Amino acid sequence: MFSCRELLIAAGLCAVLVAPAQALAQADAYPGIGRAATAKEVTAWDIDVRPDFKGLPPGAGSVASGMQVWESKCASCHGVFGESNEIFMPIVGGTTKDDMESGRVARLRDADYPARTTLMKLSSVSTLWDYINRAMPWAQPKSLSTEEVYGVTAYILNMGGIVGDDFVMSDRNIAEVQARLPNRHGKSADHALWPGAGAGQREPDVQATACMKDCAKEPELRSFLPDHARNAHGNLAKQNRTVGAQRGADTSQPPAASLQANAARADTRAAAGQPAKMNAAASGAGAKAQAKSGAAAIALTRKHSCVACHGMESKIVGPSFREVAGKYAGRVNTVAYLARKIKAGSSGVWGAVPMPAQALGETDAQAIAQWLADGASE
Ligand code: HEC
Ligand code: HEC
Repeated sequence: MFSCRELLIAAGLCAVLVAPAQALAQADAYPGIGRAATAKEVTAWDIDVRPDFKGLPPGAGSVASGMQVWESKCASCHGVFGESNEIFMPIVGGTTKDDMESGRVARLRDADYPARTTLMKLSSVSTLWDYINRAMPWAQPKSLSTEEVYGVTAYILNMGGIVGDDFVMSDRNIAEVQARLPNRHGKSADHALWPGAGAGQREPDVQATACMKDCAKEPELRSFLPDHARNAHGNLAKQNRTVGAQRGADTSQPPAASLQANAARADTRAAAGQPAKMNAAASGAGAKAQAKSGAAAIALTRKHSCVACHGMESKIVGPSFREVAGKYAGRVNTVAYLARKIKAGSSGVWGAVPMPAQALGETDAQAIAQWLADGASE
């Protein structure tokens, strides 16, 4: 999800991937910005695996080894059998032996079937391999070895009944797996959205003409999140990147009557360098010092990817930091207890999902624990 321009600014990379000659021209066009990427940098980015398996690194992994990867690194979010609906849609389920024969998942046409799992929709096994390799586990993407990716991909397929218990998947037999994939014939480019050979129409089916003069100043809002859902995932304005135009609505406030009012609200706050709600106590010098250590602790929770699972105000995989702070407010030995839990992991305190041990140093764990014990203020 990078634009060419972002990449270009980062390292001159995108243009190099497209055409080296163009990269030089681009570098001239933006003097002093970026540089040509090195061959090593390009290799590090160039990890895509195509449906014809171009790009797939050699290697192998067994269903049995994949089960261990799954249970230690994936099951906490996706469920022991890949069935969990909690964090994301179920990965496994809904496919049958008949589907493996036909290459089309029958239940995709059954409106009464409750779920659309990954294995129901997947039409090329390379996509599963590639996605796990680049994006999972969620909080530590690209941390798996090639063997682990083969193994855990094989295990997911095994849970779906697509390969046997003693199967060892490798670059040499992955094409055989593709030939058994339940929805391998289910994808079509035979429509105008992505015109394929049979579309019979090369133009997209949505037409729009850009307005060039006397255009409406402000778009008309036609639909809103219902009130009960507005703040269901915490304040969206605080969850976006802090650079660029995209800000997100301040969902801690009722909807603004107009887009301009909303933007004005965000601007005032950004100019003042303030979060949405200033803590009433945050006026004295002590409160100021606390706010400063709060910012440092919050930065640590980002650095150590805690925020993949913990929101400030809302539960994600684990409880929100505010909930944790609330639970231990006023108790003794809280800092030592929380620092220990952060490093060692936790289970059974907040629900069924455990927290794996976190790889961070004692100093950082203490700083975060202290901040939580002080009420997790921003
Ligand atoms: C911390 C929670 C978490 C952990 C741990 C985790 N995942 Fe995920 N996984 C997610 C989330 C969230 C998504 C959806 C991401 C998105 O759409 O941006 C996802 C998506 C996926 C998908 C894509 C499903 C689809 O249909 O698009 C696959 C496959 C997957 N994970 C496999 C794994 C594997 C294999 C592991 C272990 C190596 C793993 N995940 C560990 C949270 C997690
Ligand atoms: C893969 C998801 C995940 C990640 C990453 C994660 N946590 Fe957690 N965390 C959880 C879950 C789930 C729980 C609830 C566990 C339980 O019920 O005992 C939890 C619980 C906690 C608790 C409360 C423990 C208690 O005994 O009440 C603290 C404090 C905490 N996490 C801090 C952190 C910090 C700090 C980090 C980053 C260094 C972090 N977590 C990273 C999922 C995660």
